[in-house]
Amino acid sequence: SKIKEVEFVKSSIRAKDCPRDTRPEFAMLGRSNVGKSSLINALCRKKEVALTSKKPGKTQLINHFLVNKGWYIVDLPGYGHDPALQRFANAPEAARMDWSAFTKGYFLNRETLVAVLLLIDASVPPQKIDLDCANWLGRNNTPITFVFTKCDKMKGGKGKRPDENIRDFQEAMRQNYPEHPPWIMTSSSTGLGRDELLLHMSQLRNY
Ligand code: GTP
Ligand code: MG
Repeated sequence: SKIKEVEFVKSSIRAKDCPRDTRPEFAMLGRSNVGKSSLINALCRKKEVALTSKKPGKTQLINHFLVNKGWYIVDLPGYGHDPALQRFANAPEAARMDWSAFTKGYFLNRETLVAVLLLIDASVPPQKIDLDCANWLGRNNTPITFVFTKCDKMKGGKGKRPDENIRDFQEAMRQNYPEHPPWIMTSSSTGLGRDELLLHMSQLRNY
């Protein structure tokens, strides 16, 4: 299940511009700044396959990466971030996506989509927008795997620990998903969960 080769294929502005291909793909979805691009780099053990930033809103297009010439990882722009509030946005206006049009166009029509990796920041309490997103995908029968990110961020004092935030999130999820989707704890800083996630994706591809 190791990544031997990764190749950037294309940036698309709309679902209909995505590569026409039959090879399976996984989409990285989650709030801006949750660590989608960083996780792709961690999986590939490379620093700059996908571009990352401290500022939210870095990824502005649908980016397809072909792995081992056999399957795709798709890096997506984050949700929950208003580009109008972003003073130093460097992407041109036209390149910014209409997120809701995108969700419809991509998630509902991408036949090769094996699963959505829904990234959840384990260093903060459960966020309504993440629960809403999971529920939307569930209603539309899109398979998801929860990937908890930033599990290396241990809060001393007032904040809760990542494992406590994850437990709270799962508690909130159970109201809508009686059977909790698969979930994995990760850190792009330490490599936690990387092998587990790669193995999980290879199992999903072979179903
Ligand atoms: P958008 O492209 O804006 O949607 O964001 P993104 O989800 O791709 O986030 P990105 O990978 O650019 O990471 C955002 C910030 O979080 C960067 O400063 C990363 O270094 C940091 N970060 C990402 N993953 C981790 C992690 O596992 N641990 C820690 N401590 N920081 C992380
Ligand atoms: Mg990104």
